[in-house]
Amino acid sequence: MKFHITTFGCQMNVHDSGWLVRALESRGWEEAGENEAQVFIVNTCSVRDKPEQKVYSELGRIAAHLKRDENVFAAVGGCVAQQIGRGFFERFPFVKLVFGSDGIANAPNALERIVEGAENRVALLDFVSIYEERENPEERVVSISETRQAFVNIMQGCDNFCSYCIVPYTRGRQKSRRPDAIVDECHALVESGVREISLLGQNVNSFGLDKGGVGVSFADLLKSVSELNGLDRLRFTTSHPKDIAPEVITAFGELDNLCPSLHLPLQSGSDNILKAMRRKYTKERYFSIIDGLKAARPDIALTTDIIVGFPGETEDDFQQTLDMIERVGYESSFSFKYSDRPGVAAVNMEPKVAPEEASERLMRLQTLQNNITRNSLKNLEGLETHVLIEGLSRKQDENGTSWKGRDPAGRIVNVVMDETEGMIGLMIPVKILEAKKHSLNGERTGESW
Ligand code: 5AD
Ligand code: SF4
Repeated sequence: MKFHITTFGCQMNVHDSGWLVRALESRGWEEAGENEAQVFIVNTCSVRDKPEQKVYSELGRIAAHLKRDENVFAAVGGCVAQQIGRGFFERFPFVKLVFGSDGIANAPNALERIVEGAENRVALLDFVSIYEERENPEERVVSISETRQAFVNIMQGCDNFCSYCIVPYTRGRQKSRRPDAIVDECHALVESGVREISLLGQNVNSFGLDKGGVGVSFADLLKSVSELNGLDRLRFTTSHPKDIAPEVITAFGELDNLCPSLHLPLQSGSDNILKAMRRKYTKERYFSIIDGLKAARPDIALTTDIIVGFPGETEDDFQQTLDMIERVGYESSFSFKYSDRPGVAAVNMEPKVAPEEASERLMRLQTLQNNITRNSLKNLEGLETHVLIEGLSRKQDENGTSWKGRDPAGRIVNVVMDETEGMIGLMIPVKILEAKKHSLNGERTGESW
């Protein structure tokens, strides 16, 4: 069978899709281009209304392939699948499988049964209460990408119920994976040559605090993974400010391979709005975390998520968000206009901010952020660092081959080198020469390793 997979949304979806590809390949299926595919898999995101709309237009596009081959069918996974469920079977008759994030473990078998004709339509929408290990995590060792970077799931779901957020409804309650399974998987990855691991979960700082927990905290887990021999870089995402433990903050100064970067979603700089968002921290508490992080690791690069135009947000609230962005000096931020999501508490909150007002605020915020980003990248000029090469740069250079990689904080660095191949997965010592809008240019200063 030839299949094509499209992924929307967060890193967890990207990682889930990667697993699904490997699980299907181990059954003899083959990933193919759109014009050859017999099965289309769409892994969906419903966190905001824009990604959700994209899912529907993608399904509209897939429908056109029925003209080429009437047996073409689709599987819809992820958050929109969880939300709409069997409704997809009516809206798009060529959809034969829907699976939520807890159902994905059984999706490969369900696809096989559909292809064999044993089953016509399958819905895998039940939530589980304990993290379900997926088949063959070792499979990843064989098919690891050349970049020697890997993502490892440590949990599923979220218990926070921030008032704007659909995730607890689409991904279910928090379920921590067993720490020994996580460390074993990381160990196997490092043994196979992986140099950089990102631990993934919706709210990694509350790892172990659900009923799947076995008394191992996130700080303990970080330490165990960090100690793996041969692991050069360790990252994690996403963090919630209310759950970040002092031991995790100090870990940034203690664990050599823990990368100096943290994505710490602020959402708003106004205490009133934070309260309405049910974030359970104040801006002072948030700022004391930032102080702690900067004390532990002065070169830490901070990034964040911001929602503008949350119901009830006044110009003064918004101004406080701008102030906070300046005060923290985020290196970059992802900012979104608030959008109502079905079933969340904020749907009933008033007054809604007019869309033009929200757009105008978003623009002001992004202009401010661009200035801060420019300055903080500029400050890196002249510094020595090292870059893990991921591939060729988008723009090539007449003086050699331009390679793209990341510094320890995750910034993109382009380096021109004589080598035309064989650099992916190597670490290169680099001096930063020039800051661009969202990336850096550097020169190689020594031997790769
Ligand atoms: N409207 C706008 N942005 C949202 N996010 C989550 N839910 C909403 C919503 N209803 C943003 C938050 C979160 C990021 C992944 O998406 O900033 O951190
Ligand atoms: Fe959504 Fe809040 Fe959970 Fe993040 S912590 S996934 S914003 S409910």
